[in-house]
Amino acid sequence: MVSELAQRLLAWFDQNARALPWRESPPHPYRVWVSEVMLQQTQVETVLPYYQRWMTRFPDLETLAAATEQEVLRLWEGLGYYQRARALHRAAQILVRERDGCFPQRATEWQTLPGIGPYTAAAIASIAFGEVVLALDGNVRRVLARLFDLDLPVDSPAGERELRRIGQVHVPIDRPGDFNQALMDLGATLCRPQTPQCEVCPVAGLCLARARGTQSLRPVRRRG
Ligand code: ADE
Repeated sequence: MVSELAQRLLAWFDQNARALPWRESPPHPYRVWVSEVMLQQTQVETVLPYYQRWMTRFPDLETLAAATEQEVLRLWEGLGYYQRARALHRAAQILVRERDGCFPQRATEWQTLPGIGPYTAAAIASIAFGEVVLALDGNVRRVLARLFDLDLPVDSPAGERELRRIGQVHVPIDRPGDFNQALMDLGATLCRPQTPQCEVCPVAGLCLARARGTQSLRPVRRRG
């Protein structure tokens, strides 16, 4: 059964999804992976030209694995957090050498690769392989903390556990990646930290913070 929340989010996503080059049908694991690593510390608009250049020079896993680190870093120049580029390169070599160029499918396996934390692993596994896992990044934490009016700090172990528990049950089995990306897009566009646009939000009617007027108090953080 798909929850009301998931249905509304997916309907909104179908109409309003940002057109991004890695959002393909069917999704391509290599391109989803590269995009998610680039998006770890960088905004979508900044990532776009880097992503396009990267795909022109390293169109697939094998090309990336065979490149020199110097060339990989040159394409990353300006994006910052160069550890990400080194990790992509190393992971490509591991996948080619040790897995015959096959991508893992599950988030838990993705997490064993360099440069992949729990969020990125869940994003890739859900988007590219349909695994039913919640991808919890900063934007998604804020959206869920408001929807469920969570008064635990989202950056505490208890808050994190609670967000995962209440979020996971809504991830629909047929479209987990779209669900995660709908939450990401909602957080990036309407459910902003300051002055959220509740008037046009597709899930305002289900939002506890909106009902109680606590939007500006959510998410709660441990400090400052
Ligand atoms: N931020 C990180 N991953 C994203 C994705 N797949 N879509 C939109 N924003 C994102």
